[in-house]
Amino acid sequence: LRASFAPRAEKQTQNFENRLQPQASTFKVALLGAAGGIGQPLALLIKMSPLVSALHLYDIANVKGVAADLSHCNTPSQVLDFTGQAELANSLKGVDVVVIPAGVPRKPGMTRDDLFNINASIVKTLVEAVADNCPDAFIHIISNPVNSTVPIAAEILKQKGVYNPKKLFGVTTLDVVRANTFVAEKKNLRLIDVDVPVVGGHAGITILPLLSKTRPSVSFTNEEVEQLTVRIQNAGTEVVEAKAGAGSATLSMAYAAARFVESSLRALDGDADVYECSFVQSELTELPFFASRIKLGKNGVEAIISADLQGLTDYEAKALEALKPELKASIEKGVAFAQKQA
Ligand code: NAD
Ligand code: LMR
Repeated sequence: LRASFAPRAEKQTQNFENRLQPQASTFKVALLGAAGGIGQPLALLIKMSPLVSALHLYDIANVKGVAADLSHCNTPSQVLDFTGQAELANSLKGVDVVVIPAGVPRKPGMTRDDLFNINASIVKTLVEAVADNCPDAFIHIISNPVNSTVPIAAEILKQKGVYNPKKLFGVTTLDVVRANTFVAEKKNLRLIDVDVPVVGGHAGITILPLLSKTRPSVSFTNEEVEQLTVRIQNAGTEVVEAKAGAGSATLSMAYAAARFVESSLRALDGDADVYECSFVQSELTELPFFASRIKLGKNGVEAIISADLQGLTDYEAKALEALKPELKASIEKGVAFAQKQA
């Protein structure tokens, strides 16, 4: 499993069952919104992790069946189900990582910001419960608009006096997963080798793939840069349109979120070499939150990698400046919402 999520991981030669044998299944993970389009496949992928001892599935409905189904898989973690507000606190007790994909997805013609009115309140309620019940957990926010829901979560945690900026993450892994896939396709590279940092935020032009920093080093024509950048920025919309009203990315998102969970668990487990891109509190730019590569450790964000923003191409430097006003406004909208509710 690790090999499939981690770029350039060691070649995995063991068979499937052997890979799932317990190493040190010590971590508890809670999934809020577990019965949804992302929640179900993500629960399955987390259930496959040898590092997980317990998987708590929470939703407002339909979670009992998902948990019963999943609990029959012969992998180490125990699966527990929690339904509705009355069971939310118990779903969070003793948890190391909380993953939040709760909320409504886009339909064709909508922006992620159009989800703000519904999802802001959902994220607020859930993060309040996280603050009360597992304030030391890593918090992974998937619910859109991520550019606003992460600042909302930060404000709620501040109001509760438990904000630890090193442990609050906006999940932007899907942007990296897409960038890696599209670049490997275009340049005929081995997928396992390709790693493209994606910075900024998670909506439209705020998604900025730094193609000049692709590893292994690749050269792109100006047309290729333009075409790949736009495709990566619009990849969510590509899926929304293909699903034609039935929601947004769920399977690729579950894959990406599972990779981010696995990286967090490896960091918690003492692995000193874990890097991911994530939307976090940051001093990399003048904006208070910014997605970039980070180093993960036992205490969360151990370092924010500044090197990626040095030596940008003209195209990237212009795109970075161009994304700032929109990202700033989305961050401020989230902060204002949370402060108004206080
Ligand atoms: P979905 O509608 O299929 O599932 C959402 C789930 O959340 C449902 O099961 C619903 O019952 C649950 N839910 C609603 N209110 C809740 C509450 N108060 N508490 C707990 N659970 C609640 O939607 P989906 O396709 O799984 O998408 C979920 C969210 O993830 C959307 O906001 C979507 O935009 C976002 N998303 C983010 C990314 C990313 O890259 N960060 C990628 C894809 C989707
Ligand atoms: C994505 O990038 O797929 C998600 O943010 C969902 C969306 O609305 O596009």
